[in-house]
Amino acid sequence: MSTPKRYTLTAALPYTNGPVHIGHLSGVYIPADIYARYLRQKGKDVLFVCGSDEHGVPITLRAKKEGVTPQQVVDKYHAIIKKSFKDFGISFDNYSRTSAKIHHETASEFFKELYENGKFIEETSAQLYDAQANQFLADRFVIGTCPKCGYEESYGDQCEKCGTIHNATDLINPKSAITGNVPSLKETKHWYLPLNEYETWLREWIVEGHKNDWKTNVLGQVKSWLDDGLRPRAVTRDLDWGIPVPVKGAENKVLYVWFDAPIGYISATKEWAAQTGNDWQPYWKDKETKLVHFIGKDNIVFHCIIFPAMLKAKGDFILPENVPANEFLNLEGHKISTSKNWAVWLHEYLEDFPEKQDVLRYALTANAPETKDNDFTWKDFQARNNNELVAIFGNFINRVVVLTNKYYDGNVPTPSEFSEIDQETLAMIKKYPSIISKSIERYRFREASQKLLDLARLGNKYLADEEPWKQIKENPERVQTIMFVALQIAAALATLCEPFLPFTATKLNGILNIDNGLSTAKNTWNEISEKNILLPSNHKINKATLLFAKIEDKEVQYQIDKLIATKTANDQANKTVAPQKDTIAFEDFTKLDMRVGTILEAQKVPKTKKLLQLKVDVGIDVRTIISGIAESFSEEQVVGQRVTVLVNLAPRTLRGVESQGMILMTDTPDGKLAFVEPDSNLVQNGEQIS
Ligand code: 2FM
Ligand code: ZN
Repeated sequence: MSTPKRYTLTAALPYTNGPVHIGHLSGVYIPADIYARYLRQKGKDVLFVCGSDEHGVPITLRAKKEGVTPQQVVDKYHAIIKKSFKDFGISFDNYSRTSAKIHHETASEFFKELYENGKFIEETSAQLYDAQANQFLADRFVIGTCPKCGYEESYGDQCEKCGTIHNATDLINPKSAITGNVPSLKETKHWYLPLNEYETWLREWIVEGHKNDWKTNVLGQVKSWLDDGLRPRAVTRDLDWGIPVPVKGAENKVLYVWFDAPIGYISATKEWAAQTGNDWQPYWKDKETKLVHFIGKDNIVFHCIIFPAMLKAKGDFILPENVPANEFLNLEGHKISTSKNWAVWLHEYLEDFPEKQDVLRYALTANAPETKDNDFTWKDFQARNNNELVAIFGNFINRVVVLTNKYYDGNVPTPSEFSEIDQETLAMIKKYPSIISKSIERYRFREASQKLLDLARLGNKYLADEEPWKQIKENPERVQTIMFVALQIAAALATLCEPFLPFTATKLNGILNIDNGLSTAKNTWNEISEKNILLPSNHKINKATLLFAKIEDKEVQYQIDKLIATKTANDQANKTVAPQKDTIAFEDFTKLDMRVGTILEAQKVPKTKKLLQLKVDVGIDVRTIISGIAESFSEEQVVGQRVTVLVNLAPRTLRGVESQGMILMTDTPDGKLAFVEPDSNLVQNGEQIS
C-alpha cells in the first residue's frame, strides 16, 4: 500500500477472567503501543483500539469457580485490566468492552447481515453434551486429546500446544471440564461459516500477496492450516453467556466468542467516534486505511483466517495489512500460567516498583518474543535497567544536564566553530529518526529499542572523547560548543524515546524545559532530521533529576523468592501419591538386605547421560555400584553422601562394569532425585535397615 491516509491499530481484546501480566504486555500491548505512539509522533492519523473480551467459556468457568455471576467477574477484571493498561501508558484511543450495548448491537447486526445474505450453512448435528450439568460442551468446557499433536489437555475449539483449531467432536477421549464426565451426543442446530469456500482466496491474499511483508511465523501457521484444508466452522453456541443469536429458532443460543470478539474492534471504533464526534466508517471501510492487528501467536488463526473470512463475507470492510503476531514469553524458564499464578501481574509489579513502568516496558521490548519464545528473568530485568537505562541513557542525560547547570547556570550555551567530530555527530543525530523508523515499520521493536540506546551511546562516547570537564579552564569557548552539541543529542533522545519510554520522555522534556508553552516546542520525529537546532542557545533547562535508579540485588531476589514460594505451593497442591502396591509377606521383606553406606568416589560412565559409577562403603566392603543419578547430581556433589543400599540385589553388568547393589532414591516435586539417608551421622556404615 502506498502512503496510507490513516491507521487503524487493534490490540487483542484480553479475556476478562483475570488480571493482565507481563506476557500480555510483551506480546501484544507494548509493541502495539510503540507503533501507535511512533505513528502519532510522525503526525499520522491513528486510531488505536482495544477492549475487554467479556464473553466465552473462560469467563463462565471463572464465575463458577468464584461462585459469582459472569457479569460480576467481567466487571471486576475489566476495571483492573483497564487500570493496568493506563498505568503502563498504553495509549488506546478507546478501551471498550464486549458487554457494552454498542458491541451487542454491532455484533448482532454483523451476524444478521451475513445470515440474510446466505453466508452461513445451517446444520443440525450431534454435539457433545454433559447430562449431569445439563449443557452442551464446546470450547473450554471440554478437554480431550488433540487429534493433530496428541496433547491430552486440548480444549474443544483450540489446542493450546499446537494451535490447531478443531470442533469439539474432533477431540479424542473428551471429558467435561465441569463434571469430569464423559459426554454423550445430542442433536442441536448451529450456523457455520464455510471457511473451505474462502481457502483459495485466503491463499492468494496471504500466502501469495503478503509473502514478503508478513512475519515468517505468521505465514508459516497460515500456510500449514491452508495445506491441511479448511472446514466449516460453527459460529454459534448453546450457552447462556454471550450475545444472543439474532435469528428465529435460535433461542438459548449465543454467538461463538471468536465471532463476536474481533467485531469488538469495530464497536470500540464506533464508541470512540460517538464520544469524539468522528466518523467511524473510514477507519474500517476506506481502502486507504492501513489496518494492523497486534496479537499473540495463539490468536493467528482467528485474525488471519476466520475474521478476514467474516470481513470478506460482509464485503464492505477493509482487510488487515499486517498481523505482526508475537511468540510467547516464558517466566524464569516456565510457561506463564494464570491458573498456576506463574506470572508477574502488572498491578503487583507497580506495588513493588512504583513509577518504574518504563523499566518493565524497556526490559520487555529489549527481550520481546518476536521470532521465537523468550524467557523473562528478574536478573535480565535488573541488568537491562542497571547496565542500559541507568549506565547508558540516564548517565548521558545526567552528565549533560549537570554540566550545563554547573557551567552555564542551565542556559544552553552558544557554540563557536564546529569541529569535524561535532559536524559528524550533528549529522548522525539527523539519521536516527530514519534508523529507528526502519526497525519499527518492520515491527522489529527490540531492534528499534537498541538503536535508540545507540544514540545515547553516541552521546556518551562524544562526551568521553571531548572531555569538556578537562577543557573548561583553558578552553571555555570549545566547551560551549561541546555542551551545545551534547544538548542537541539529549533533545533528540527526548523525542525518539517517547514510543518506548513515554514516562521518561515526559520527565526528560521537563528537565530540558521543552514544550513549556513558552519558549521551546517539542521536536517532532521528522524535525529531528530536518532542523539544525533542536535546543536553541539561551534556552534555560531545569536542574537534573534522576531518570532511572539502580535496582539492587535484594529487590530482584525478593521477586525470585516470591516465585519460588509460588512454585513450592503449586508442587504441594499437585502432589500425586502412587497407589500402594500389593501386600507382601514379612518373610519377603526380610529377604531384602539394606545397609547404610557412604559414597567414596564417583565418575561419569562414558557416553551415557544418566549413569555414575560409584565406590560405596557399605560396612561389609567397599563395592562398585552403577547408579542412574547423573542428571540430578554431579560427581563432586555425591562424594561423601550417606546413602541406603540394597546390598543383596543380584549383580548386573552395565556398560561392561558389574554393579553390586542398588542405592535407594526418591523423587522431588520438580522431577529430580533425592537420596534416602539416615537422619543421624552417628549411624555407621553397614547398619541394617529393618
Ligand atoms: O486470546 C485471548 O485472550 C482472546 N480474548 C483474544 C481476542 S482478540 C479479538 F479478536 F478480540
Ligand atoms: Zn495439538
